[in-house]
This record gives sequence, C-alpha cells and structure tokens, in this order.
Amino acid sequence: MLRKVSFVTSNVHKFEEAKAVLTQFDIELVQIPTPISEIQSDDLREIVIYKAMEAAKVVDPPFIVEDTGLYIGELNGFPGPYASYVYKSLGLRNILKLMTNISNRSAVFKAVGAVVYRENVFKIFESSVKGTIADSIRGGHGFGYDPIFIPSGSTHTFAEMVLEEKNRCSHRGRLFRKIGSFLTQVI
Ligand code: IMP
Repeated sequence: MLRKVSFVTSNVHKFEEAKAVLTQFDIELVQIPTPISEIQSDDLREIVIYKAMEAAKVVDPPFIVEDTGLYIGELNGFPGPYASYVYKSLGLRNILKLMTNISNRSAVFKAVGAVVYRENVFKIFESSVKGTIADSIRGGHGFGYDPIFIPSGSTHTFAEMVLEEKNRCSHRGRLFRKIGSFLTQVI
C-alpha cells in the first residue's frame, strides 16, 4: 500500500468501518485514539472543523476527523449532533419509549468528515442515509444506534448487518468512499 492516512477517533467501530472502505482505495488507515476536545454545536460542520483544528495540534497530516448526527423527523431532528450525549444519558430503550405511538419513524444519519491533507489545508465531506427507527432493539453487530436504525430499502437494522453490508449503504460507508477517491488524487 502506498498511502498511509490517520483517522483521529477513539471509536474502534468507526475506525474498522472506515478502514474497510479505504483499503479498497489502497489506503492504509491508522487509528489515532488520542481524545480530542469537542465543542457542542447545532452544526456538524462546525464541530468537525473545530475537531480538525484541535487534532492538528497533535497529529501530522494527512489525517481525518469525523462526526455523526442522528435526526429523527417526528422529534424535530432530535438528537441531531447531540446523539452521543443522548445515547449515554437516555440509552436506546428510553429513546424508543419517546417514540411510543409515533407512526412516522423516519430518521436520517448524517456524517461529516474533515480531511486535513497538508499543513493547514483541509476539505470537508458530508454523507447521509435515510431510514426509520425500529420498534425494538435488534441485532448484535455494530455500535451506538445501530440496533434501532433500519436504512431505507432494507428490513434489517444496521446491527443485523455485518460490517461490509452496513458499509454498502451507511452514512459512513458513503462518506469514506468520497474521502477515498479524493485522497487518491491529493496524496
Ligand atoms: P459521534 O460522531 O462519535 O459524536 O457519535 C454520535 C453518537 O452517534 C454516538 O453515540 C455514536 O455511538 C453514535 N453513532 C455514530 N455513528 C454511528 C453509526 O454508524 N451507527 C450507530 N450509531 C452511531
């Protein structure tokens, strides 16, 4: 493999998903699990740009940072970019309780990534996947909201899919395919 790129994330699941995609572009992805301070914002791009600036203090380019939000339509986009806090504080069971008697269960997963490919030079990428929130917690793969998110066109939650299947249709799979084709042009 010719190209080596760092992914600054403490989340090993995100790393494994991204690595599987970038391998297809002959890019070797290396996990940098160093915790990076984050801001709270309504805007995923703002969060990612801040993360990139913080990571740049400790990591050499080329590197990637990423942030994800889950937007549930009938809950006015809740939890959005606060998905991590809500997952930790409420948990999946309570999120499903919030949705009792809600028949429109549409939701969108959005992922934003920043690729810092030279000193102080970066590009932002965005991807999303539409789907629905399941009625119950299903499946043992993946992480986070995977057991309650069913991508459009499937009857399975992400947690009922193996990594390759999830990557084919997920927000992160799509994001890293964009990032992979960009990286092959610039590094
Ligand atoms: P963050 O990008 O690490 O801030 O993630 C926000 C929240 O969404 C965390 O609770 C993650 O566990 C969750 N999350 C991020 N990506 C995914 C995914 O691909 N599937 C399910 N949950 C995710």
